[in-house]
Amino acid sequence: MRTHYCGLVDEALIGRNITLCGWVDARRDHGGVVFLDLRDHEGIVQVVVDPDTAEAFATASRVSYEFCLRVKGTVRAREAVNERMKTGRVEVLASGVEVLNAARDLPFALHESPNEDMRLTYRFLDLRRPEMQRMLRTRVRLVQALRRRLDTDGFQDIETPILTRATPEGARDYLVPSRVHAGEFYALPQSPQLFKQLLMIAGFDRYYQIARCFRDEDLRADRQPEFTQLDMEFAFVDERQVQDYVENLIRDVFAEVAGVTLDSTFPRMTWREAMQRYGSDKPDLRIDMELVDIAEAVRHVEFKVFSGPAGDPQGRVAALRVPGGAELSRKQIDELAAHATKHGAKGLAWMKVNARGDGLDGVSSPIAKFLDAASLSAILDLTHAADGDLLLFGAGPWVQVSNFMGALRVKVARDRGLVETGWKPLWVTDFPMFEYDAGASRFVALHHPFTAPKVDDIAALKADPHAAVSRGYDMVLNGAEIGGGSIRIHHPQMQSAVFELLGIDAAEAEAKFGFLLKALTMGAPPHGGIAFGVDRIAMLMSGTEAIRDIIAFPKTTSAQCLMTQAPSPVAADQLAELHVKVIGKPAVD
Ligand code: AMO
Ligand code: AMP
Repeated sequence: MRTHYCGLVDEALIGRNITLCGWVDARRDHGGVVFLDLRDHEGIVQVVVDPDTAEAFATASRVSYEFCLRVKGTVRAREAVNERMKTGRVEVLASGVEVLNAARDLPFALHESPNEDMRLTYRFLDLRRPEMQRMLRTRVRLVQALRRRLDTDGFQDIETPILTRATPEGARDYLVPSRVHAGEFYALPQSPQLFKQLLMIAGFDRYYQIARCFRDEDLRADRQPEFTQLDMEFAFVDERQVQDYVENLIRDVFAEVAGVTLDSTFPRMTWREAMQRYGSDKPDLRIDMELVDIAEAVRHVEFKVFSGPAGDPQGRVAALRVPGGAELSRKQIDELAAHATKHGAKGLAWMKVNARGDGLDGVSSPIAKFLDAASLSAILDLTHAADGDLLLFGAGPWVQVSNFMGALRVKVARDRGLVETGWKPLWVTDFPMFEYDAGASRFVALHHPFTAPKVDDIAALKADPHAAVSRGYDMVLNGAEIGGGSIRIHHPQMQSAVFELLGIDAAEAEAKFGFLLKALTMGAPPHGGIAFGVDRIAMLMSGTEAIRDIIAFPKTTSAQCLMTQAPSPVAADQLAELHVKVIGKPAVD
């Protein structure tokens, strides 16, 4: 249908007759001449339609934005060169214009920025926008680069089932009813975790898959209910080998796909240190602010909110210094407090340092009345506060305080433009094996139940599960968790012990994971791996903060596809065939 791409027409083609296909990006009528900007996936070229070519001119006069056209014409040098356009030195003098398809009743103009619901409803139009094309193509190149490298390095690309049993990664499962087994359900995989471990036991040595994963969880800007992992597993390795390999891989694909040079070795930090200094297990190291522990300064103050946690080994009293923050209004501080509450705080104390030298008279703070000169001076020393600074304080259980103070650190830095540009990768290691879920009064796995503990001794693990550290590791980039993995348990006794600690009794373990426990008794090699969030890496590479921008057909934060209207009710007979009865909303006829 065409001889060339619009975006690739250049001076070498001057004098040639060519045929182009594309969409009308813009149309201008100038003194009886029609100018069309014709766009295809390579870019835009200007087409000139003269009244001399009467038929083409008549057609060009009635086309409008986003009409799909075929244009024949001759390439010529452009009089008014447009240096901002790749094709700005040439234009195409049309001899024929054919409408391949009209475009009627467009819901929005591509040059405007329509609201997101519109964009998602008419995603096929939204994706025509050059910005969307650029971002999705970055993703395509990312996946190409990953595959090329892993294929060359001997990884086996093996597909694992989508219709499967529940694979615990901490989210809810999407279930699919079985027609032939009444009352039974498949689960969509939250990750290929167990299958990749079984592939190692089966002797494939190194596996990867660009795998779709499904998780029914609360959605956020960086989470989708279905997303893509680069999933990898290695046999006969320790954590350092996995980390070294994938660190090189990530560094190389960032250089190749995004032209970004990452550190030659990524810094490493234990989970404890990351929480202590940054209040996050995925610290954004572009922000040069750290939390400061002030327990020693407030252990004896009369304010119980502070002195309580300060004297409790499980407690924490932390401060965050906001340089120049004394200028914040009461309303702005209230907004910070609301942000802290959203992240688990019971309250947020603060202090404006007006004149450090004036002691208690030199600060304004709702907690000043509880402090004496010595504790105030200790706080100011520990935080290195200067006149004009704002101090924020959190007190309470260690993890909770770390989390909300960490969230404040990020918010304050963003609000005040304190996030440096650049790329800050790191490894976070030494995660706790278990988290105690006080609500359910039981332990849950911080990573997943197949992660090996650092201690190889079952008795020691059971003696103090709170203190157990795992062989898990996360790769973090600019405050985003881009990958997570671990060395796995490869002995059945240890796996059973971990199940038991997680409150999964022997019968349940056998019913749900019997196949794994059996496989572990039949020559399972030591193994480990990692999975990267392909969507998240593509987001970082494309410079967008919305995961929806780098997924062609994403879901909204309420897990709907506005274009296809999924999920949707189904017919009663289809439900009957699946042995499903809907409670509440009736099925459609
Ligand atoms: P994990 O659950 O940490 O590990 O997931 C690995 C990576 O996948 C990305 N990710 C997501 N991206 C978009 N939307 C989501 N809802 C979402 N959830 C996770 C993150 C994360 O780092 N089986 C283990 C891996 C292993 O142990 O090898 C797993 O799935 O970037
Ligand atoms: P109150 O005496 O309860 O009004 O508290 C005084 C100040 O301490 C208020 O600014 C509260 O927001 C703050 N506050 C209360 N609980 C906490 C907490 N757990 N951590 C930090 N500040 C708190």
